[in-house]
Amino acid sequence: MSKKRVRIYTGFERFWHWTQAVLVLFLAFTGFEIHGSYTFFGFREAVRYHNIAAYLLIVLVVFAIFWHFTTGEWRQYVPTREKLRAQLEYYLFGIFRNAPHPAKKTTLSKLNPLQRLTYFGLKVVLFPLVVTSGLLYMFYRYPSRYGVEAINIESLEWIALAHTLGAFLLMAFLIVHLYMTTTGETVFSNLRAMITGYEEVEEPAAPTPSTAEAKQT
Ligand code: HEM
Repeated sequence: MSKKRVRIYTGFERFWHWTQAVLVLFLAFTGFEIHGSYTFFGFREAVRYHNIAAYLLIVLVVFAIFWHFTTGEWRQYVPTREKLRAQLEYYLFGIFRNAPHPAKKTTLSKLNPLQRLTYFGLKVVLFPLVVTSGLLYMFYRYPSRYGVEAINIESLEWIALAHTLGAFLLMAFLIVHLYMTTTGETVFSNLRAMITGYEEVEEPAAPTPSTAEAKQT
């Protein structure tokens, strides 16, 4: 194994990641104002900004889904049990003893098994929960205009609860995510990779002429 500076994240991936981060933070900021946690923009403006940011996030998510499927990058997120326990033990104990990372990052496998599981859950459970409940919330507010009459008062309570639960879970994810970004090779190596796209990773050494010949015989 040798260390090589390789491009881990493409331009689109970085654009998608940072735009999503800004939108989710803004949605949280305006959302918790709507929730009544504080006053900053004022309720009406907070709702207006929240709706605009929500539409932008939906457009971004549609592009991201398209990108993941056309590039085959969705495969990075398929959960695996291989080294899952080792990864968990690393975060609980090994990391405090300077143990080596159990899952080495390569261009073909950027995510460790715990990240795979977390991001899979984020994409398949949490995001759909927040977006669907948010859309239902949005269209419930104007039933006559959009004709969604089946949603009655009782269900709005569940929609609001589901949306707020999703928002809290997203914030919990964000806190853990921020901590996790500091646990790479160095404190800022993961952050730098998501900004520049490049990171030093261990790639299998290219075969030397003699080993290549040996393989052929
Ligand atoms: C596409 C995604 C989203 C849509 C369509 C959406 C839509 C909405 C709508 C329509 C409301 C109610 C506004 C009103 O009372 O008129 C709302 C409230 C809220 N949203 Fe979102 N939202 C989205 C994403 C998010 C995200 C990512 C967060 C936070 C991380 C968030 C947090 C909140 C919170 C905390 C409330 C207040 C809930 C309550 O107290 O009932 N939303 N959202």
